[in-house]
Amino acid sequence: MVNTRTPLIAGNWKMNLDHLQSIAFVQKLAWSLKDAKHDYTAVEAAVFPPFTDIRSVQTLLDADKLELGLGAQDLSAADSGAYTGEVSGAFLSKLDVRYVLVGHSERRTMHAEDDSVVAAKVAAAHRHGLVPVICVGETADDLEKHGASAVPVAQLHAALAEVPSSAEIVVAYEPVWAIGSGQAATAEQAEQVCAALRSALVEIVGVDAAAATRILYGGSVKAANIASFMREPNVDGALVGGASLDIDEFASIVRFPHHVGT
Ligand code: 13P
Repeated sequence: MVNTRTPLIAGNWKMNLDHLQSIAFVQKLAWSLKDAKHDYTAVEAAVFPPFTDIRSVQTLLDADKLELGLGAQDLSAADSGAYTGEVSGAFLSKLDVRYVLVGHSERRTMHAEDDSVVAAKVAAAHRHGLVPVICVGETADDLEKHGASAVPVAQLHAALAEVPSSAEIVVAYEPVWAIGSGQAATAEQAEQVCAALRSALVEIVGVDAAAATRILYGGSVKAANIASFMREPNVDGALVGGASLDIDEFASIVRFPHHVGT
C-alpha cells in the first residue's frame, strides 16, 4: 500500500476555553504557525472546541482565511426533533465544521454510549457531510484480558456497521489508560494496534479505502513524543487532549517534521 495520507494533528479541547478565549487562542495559534511558515498541505491541523465556541471560531477562520480545520466533539444520532440538549450534524455542517469526534472514551464511559450509539452517530455524521473521527481504544482491564487490539478492532467493526464503504472517516486509536495519564503508549504499541485497525479496514472497506484512511494515535501526546509516533508506518497523526490547550506545545506538535533527534 502506497502511503498518500496527509498527517492530521487534531486538538480535542474537551470542556475547556469559552468562546472569547477560543478566539484569542485560535488567533495566536494561527499566528504562531504562520510565523513558522507552516505548510498545512504537508500536515493538516484542526481544533475541536466546545459547541458554544464553534460559531466564533468559524467566523474567525473565515474572516482571516485561516487554514486550520474545525471539528466538533460530538453530534446527535438524530437529525432534528425532540432531543433536548442534543446538537444535530445538520447544524454543524452549516457552520462549516468538517470533522466530528464520535465514540470518545469519555462519551462511552460517562454518557453510556455503546457501540450501537456510536454506529448511529457515525451514520449521522456521514448523512450531513461531516467526517467522523471514530475513537476506539481498550481500557487497562481490556488490555490485561484481551491484549491491545481486540477491543479497538471490535469497536471499529461496530462503528462502521451503518455507513457505506465509500464514507470518508478518520480513526483515532486512544488507549483509555493513556488518556490524560501522562503515560503514553510506546510508538511500537501504537503501531501494533494501528496496523491491526488498518487490516480490519481492509476487510470492512477494501484495500484502497483502507490505504487512504488516516489512523491517529491519542493519549498523552506531547511535543516531546509526537515524532516517535509519526515515524510508525500506520500512525497518520494524533488526537491531542491536554497538550492542545497550550499554543506553543500544540504548534510544536503540528510541526513534528521539523523535530530533530526526538
Ligand atoms: P490527552 O492528550 O490529554 O491524554 O487526551 C487524549 C484525548 O482524549 C484526546 O481525545
